[in-house]
Amino acid sequence: MKKMNLALSLAAVALVVLSGCGDKPKSDVATYKYTPAQVYAETCVHCHGPKGEGIAEKKAPALTKQSIQELEMSLFDIKNGGLGQSTASEHDIMEHNMKKLAEKGYDYDIKMMANYLHNAFYVAK
Ligand code: HEC
Repeated sequence: MKKMNLALSLAAVALVVLSGCGDKPKSDVATYKYTPAQVYAETCVHCHGPKGEGIAEKKAPALTKQSIQELEMSLFDIKNGGLGQSTASEHDIMEHNMKKLAEKGYDYDIKMMANYLHNAFYVAK
């Protein structure tokens, strides 16, 4: 009988631990509605092109030459309105775009987006 109780309580503990673990990644994912690939395919592509080559009429630059770090810095600037001294950020247009996109749920993790852009579009110089 004692053994039985022990087994039961162990099972209960395991359940609590497991469900506790299961919850975490879920809430992380829920923070962003779309993956970087989805966000790009549905929004960014209209200005930056299917291969990240940039579209001149939209004045959108190519995203094919930047390192992950450079992309991260640009994206950070874009999403945070150029913190620090560089208030007259070179990303005024993108900042405006990004606010609109985020309002529509097309938000993303900066690191994940930088990685996606680099891996999908980078062309060695
Ligand atoms: C409506 C057109 C438009 C859309 C949509 C758009 N961009 Fe841009 N993007 C631009 C323009 C124009 C610039 C250059 C001027 C600026 O940065 O404000 C730019 C600049 C950038 C830069 C900086 C590049 C550099 O070399 O400095 C990055 C990175 C970038 N966009 C990423 C994205 C991502 C990621 C998305 C989708 C979430 C996106 N853009 C959606 C027009 C757009």
